[in-house]
Amino acid sequence: MATITEIAPDVYRLCLFQKEIDLQFNHFLIKDDEPLLYHAGYRAAFPALREAVARLIDPKTLRWIGWSHFESDECGALNQWLELSPSAQPACGFLGAAINVNDFAIRPPRVLQEGEVLVTGKHRFRFLPTAHVPHGWDSGVMFEETNRTLLCSDLFVHFGDVEPSTTGDIVGRAREAMENMERSPFAYSVPYTARTGRVLSELAKLGAKTLATMHGSSFVGDAAQALRDLDVAMKEVLRP
Ligand SMILES: [Fe+2]
Ligand SMILES: [Fe+2]
Repeated sequence: MATITEIAPDVYRLCLFQKEIDLQFNHFLIKDDEPLLYHAGYRAAFPALREAVARLIDPKTLRWIGWSHFESDECGALNQWLELSPSAQPACGFLGAAINVNDFAIRPPRVLQEGEVLVTGKHRFRFLPTAHVPHGWDSGVMFEETNRTLLCSDLFVHFGDVEPSTTGDIVGRAREAMENMERSPFAYSVPYTARTGRVLSELAKLGAKTLATMHGSSFVGDAAQALRDLDVAMKEVLRP
């Protein structure tokens, strides 16, 4: 059963913890005139996530489904959501649509250009392509401008059944997780490329107040500093 926490006004974190791998999978529902779910979740997680969404809204009224990059934890249940909610539509960048979604999804996506804003009522989501940050050619993030929440997907991944939100050292946790993963069969999950630092520094300029992380606690505080510190940690841990 999902744990639900409102981490910013109207932004609900729906957390499913997978004990076997000691990792949280967080999905974010933004309640608005046109509700948006960020991360469709695994296909296998769909019943639990649908039940969690139903505690907040009628799932059939879901209008938008967004994510960062095409992977099963982010998009696996996309078509189940589209079947359940007749007016729901995927929202992704050009690369996401061209590489995966135009073929995979049962309905065509709304394709967001770089910097384009998706308005859902009170909330505005700016789409920023971030190819290969954290990973995946089609990667992007959405910045919810009303509350200044950055939906940052697999940035700041950390393990454990941690608290929904922290003001503590999220970069230290992410560094430890990267170090452990590099020594495991899950090594090389995130590249550090010539563009990584520039992308993270652009995200830092957004002035986010909340980082909505997919795996681990969300962070409330100086997100710009956290993103700059994450760049240092990634460079030190991931660069050969
Ligand atoms: Fe990922
Ligand atoms: Fe993920």
